[in-house]
Amino acid sequence: EKGGFEHFMLKEIFEQPRSIADSMRGRVRAEEEHLQLGGLRDYLGQLAASERVVIVGCGTSWHAGLVAEYIFEELARIPVEVEYASEFRYRNPIIKERDVVIAISQSGETADTLAAIELAKSKGATIFGVCNVVGSSIARTAHAGAYTHAGPEIGVASTKAFTAQVTVLTLMALSAAQQKGTISNTVFRQLLAELERIPALVEKVLRDAQKVKEIAYIFTYARNFIYLGRGLNFPVALEGALKLKEISYIHAEGYPAAEMKHGPIALIDEDMPVVVIATKDSSYEKVVSNIQEIKARKGRVIAVVTEGDSHIREMVDFVIEIPNVHEMLMPLISVIPLQLLSYYIAVMRGRNVDQPRNLAKSVTVE
Ligand code: M6R
Repeated sequence: EKGGFEHFMLKEIFEQPRSIADSMRGRVRAEEEHLQLGGLRDYLGQLAASERVVIVGCGTSWHAGLVAEYIFEELARIPVEVEYASEFRYRNPIIKERDVVIAISQSGETADTLAAIELAKSKGATIFGVCNVVGSSIARTAHAGAYTHAGPEIGVASTKAFTAQVTVLTLMALSAAQQKGTISNTVFRQLLAELERIPALVEKVLRDAQKVKEIAYIFTYARNFIYLGRGLNFPVALEGALKLKEISYIHAEGYPAAEMKHGPIALIDEDMPVVVIATKDSSYEKVVSNIQEIKARKGRVIAVVTEGDSHIREMVDFVIEIPNVHEMLMPLISVIPLQLLSYYIAVMRGRNVDQPRNLAKSVTVE
């Protein structure tokens, strides 16, 4: 059942070329400039006309929401707020009838997320669900939605569900942008074409898994880790840190790279590994300066870079190269080496990767 893999988590990481493709199947045909999410059809106008989108979720699903925030705001020009479901529901949130709430949940059973959407629904908001489990409670409670077609996810650490969520949310943002007219035909076409290339690019990153394993070996006994990224790679940094914490039990924190100088940089010394996502995008130069700040304090830097980047290679301890893609889609690629890094470190530490201590696959308690 693990398809020849040692753990479900590794199998699920390697399934991503397929699960991402499945989440686009029948929805995207770049050649014909076709994009349609069946489950949104009757509600697309409402999404495009919404004054505000509130995204709720927990854990990894919340991270997918943070990625979606950048994409929705950039492409569809709709203000987005991303909330932890557990915070949202307990503080008498301001919800108006023209608000759209998007609930993200792999299991569709997370108690706090379910309660958050019931609250928003009672205040008149329209609810969209982005769930992986068909017929789950959240999917049934939502007015409309789009399933992620990741297939069953068994490992407690969410991997293929995350990339499927980001894929579907990107399609939602693109649909809203097209409906609103906030995206040019050229960019629309380009993004659809790039989306279709994603499965092959993920495949390419997976072919370099051995390289990540070698780095994991070196850092197996680290006691702490910091993950940094900017822009769309900031939520990826949070996700990388969460993956490491939950399956290896190493303390890890994710930060927006520029926040370092506001406190966390005090933690940097020769014992602190820092994973920096430093792909060639609009914040590249800024991230390069952040790397310099860390190296000046003797931190050990593992940089995830765009292939062919020789500049960063000279500055850091280790590089992991990933293929280039449109900035909006980069999280789908940049998260892959971080999933692998946490997996290999956890295995080398002898952890129960698929069922880490104290955790359940779906959190149905409040
Ligand atoms: O099923 P959900 O997406 O609602 O679950 C949310 C979180 O419990 C989940 O993402 C959790 O953080 C994962 N174990 C992270 O890998």
